[in-house]
Amino acid sequence: MKIQVKQQENNGIHFHLSNKSVSLVIESTQDGYVFLRHFGKKIRNYHASNRPQALDRAFSPGPYADSRCFSLDTQRQVYATAGMGDFRYPAIMIANEKDQGLDLRLLTYEVQDGVVPIAGLPSSHANQKAAQTLKLVLEDRVLAIQVVLFYTLFAESTVIATHVEVTNNSQQGYTIEKLHSAMLDLEHCNYELIELAGAYAREKTLQKTPLKQGLMSVNSRRGASSHQATPFTCLAAPTTNEEQGEVIGMHLLYSGDFEAGVFVDQLATTRMFIGLNHETFRWQLEPQATFTSPEALLTYTDQGFGQMTQDMHDFVKAHILTGQHQNALRPILLNNWEATYFDFDEAKILALADKAVEAGIELLVLDDGWFGQRNDDNTSLGDWFLNEAKLPKGLANLVEQVNQKGLQFGIWVEPEMVSVTSELYRQHPDWCLHMAKRPHLYSRNQLVLDLSREDVQNYLIEAMSTVFASANISYVKWDMNRNMTCVASALQQHGIKEISHRYILGLYKILTALIEKFPHILFESCSGGGGRYDLGMLAYMPQTWTSDNTDAICRLNIQYGTSFIYPAITMGAHVSAVPNHQVGRITSLATRGAIAMAGNLGYELDLTQLPQTELTEIAQQVQTYKAIRPIIQAGDLYRLLNPTTTPNETAFLYISKDKTEAVVTYCKVLAQAESPTTVLRLKGLDETARYRDTKTQQCYGGDELMHVGVTIPLARTDFYTVTFHFQKC
Ligand code: DGJ
Repeated sequence: MKIQVKQQENNGIHFHLSNKSVSLVIESTQDGYVFLRHFGKKIRNYHASNRPQALDRAFSPGPYADSRCFSLDTQRQVYATAGMGDFRYPAIMIANEKDQGLDLRLLTYEVQDGVVPIAGLPSSHANQKAAQTLKLVLEDRVLAIQVVLFYTLFAESTVIATHVEVTNNSQQGYTIEKLHSAMLDLEHCNYELIELAGAYAREKTLQKTPLKQGLMSVNSRRGASSHQATPFTCLAAPTTNEEQGEVIGMHLLYSGDFEAGVFVDQLATTRMFIGLNHETFRWQLEPQATFTSPEALLTYTDQGFGQMTQDMHDFVKAHILTGQHQNALRPILLNNWEATYFDFDEAKILALADKAVEAGIELLVLDDGWFGQRNDDNTSLGDWFLNEAKLPKGLANLVEQVNQKGLQFGIWVEPEMVSVTSELYRQHPDWCLHMAKRPHLYSRNQLVLDLSREDVQNYLIEAMSTVFASANISYVKWDMNRNMTCVASALQQHGIKEISHRYILGLYKILTALIEKFPHILFESCSGGGGRYDLGMLAYMPQTWTSDNTDAICRLNIQYGTSFIYPAITMGAHVSAVPNHQVGRITSLATRGAIAMAGNLGYELDLTQLPQTELTEIAQQVQTYKAIRPIIQAGDLYRLLNPTTTPNETAFLYISKDKTEAVVTYCKVLAQAESPTTVLRLKGLDETARYRDTKTQQCYGGDELMHVGVTIPLARTDFYTVTFHFQKC
């Protein structure tokens, strides 16, 4: 990694940031305008080979009376403002009653070692010597507003982190009306916009759309990053595949409302952006106050989606996940949700524990229904004391018994919510988000607590600490089962459009406190499945429940989309009962196991109801997963066949970092008559090594497996899977 700063003869400056394979070149002009000259493949030096032409573009205004050839409207900007001649989609908007322009010019710059952590928000971490940051300090002299752009390089990664800080150095207040975290003006628009869209139980559905002139937006205004969108987009040349082609990506470390996308202008240049969703965000910036944006990540590769994925997976594992569990192998769990729903008692939980032990499972998770009067989903959220009718001998006693059997114990909570039928709501009806004169809007019959309030934050830290300290709890599933409506605070301390962001700041404050207090607990975040599966949550909780949809075939798509950016170690994947509870499909236990083994394997079905043959099969699966777990959770992913291009066939491969072991999974959805033979060519192996198929003991050269391939045996059955495990001989 290197940050070169070169003074130019014309008083401009070139800032050239480069890591292993990416260069970012920014030029400041003699008048302090800051423009993007290159973001893409690494170059050694920049000599302005692509300098812009001075052209008089109609209807593009500029600041120089003697030149019609300079307009911010036609420059590749680094961080675009509104009201000063650039009519495209701005990154920042600031106003008071008298002024709504912002003329940002470079004041000074600084290069420093390490990352720049953001107070109150998640950000990438690295050792002081393993990262370097460029700070560009821009200023609007009229408003006395300072805007600092941060760009951080990492020694071992191709990802660049960036964020923005705004300070009001004047004596008057301003409103920040829009603040994006990252922006890139790209020289053409010959790309497809790729996003992970979806719905509840259909999360992370990959969607590609060719660019068109104007605005294309990927966003959430649900108060959470949401099932429907992911705070990520990438642009790819239309011919890009897993192995080749340019991909430019943007990610936001944030869990609330966001906006990402592109604006293609009249001259076919593309502005790519990501940041807070300006529709639901405003911030009052008082004199001398500073506001900091969430962090964004920029990625570039010319080696296709596969490389983009590996770069992100490595980055998430090294720089986003934290704490004791950062890269620790995840325990195989049994969750009682689909096994019992709300209908359980101590005897049932202990019976499940016995079966889990028999199968070699390592952690038992007690899901929803253990507290208050919670026998269905209409009551008790907020009453975080034991449901004594179900567990009369107490939680600590239950956990002790589970521990004695040799299992760790985990528990479910949904702290951000309150049921109207609860002690908490009776005591504090004003603690939920609501608008004073409007009736509540219910979703799953619950309301959202107002996490923008300090008293609510403190109460939740206290209430959760009491639960987590009440027994030997090793794991917590932190759920969140509705989106925000009636977003207003009874306190009315702040502007109403600040509440969504203040909620997320409150959430991060609570998580920081709890994680500090309980560093040994493995936290899994959940929002009705993947409704808040984002880098913001991953910075606190190193794994996520990917989807409430546990059907193996639906999971092919969900896990494919998820795998695009998030590594398997973060991705909860469970084997559940058939007919599947979400879609009614019947698949074999082998298929359910093979697909769930692509993530953090767990089980979520009533093991006490299974025949011995299936229990034995589960025990074998658990044993297999224990053997391949380090390959899946710490290795590299190669996607071989994708459900978007070959909907009937999916195949993926995990290889250990040292290339000594590889696990291949193939799935064919529907059987076909006279089906062509599939020969799968593997990727990423050591070509010169020999690998043994652990089932047949047959050895093959790495080059043979990669360039000739392995034959997939034909089978006359739907939902068919085959797995291979190769070990270097
Ligand atoms: C939604 C989660 O995604 C499920 O796994 C389960 O925990 C339920 N909530 C419990 O209410």
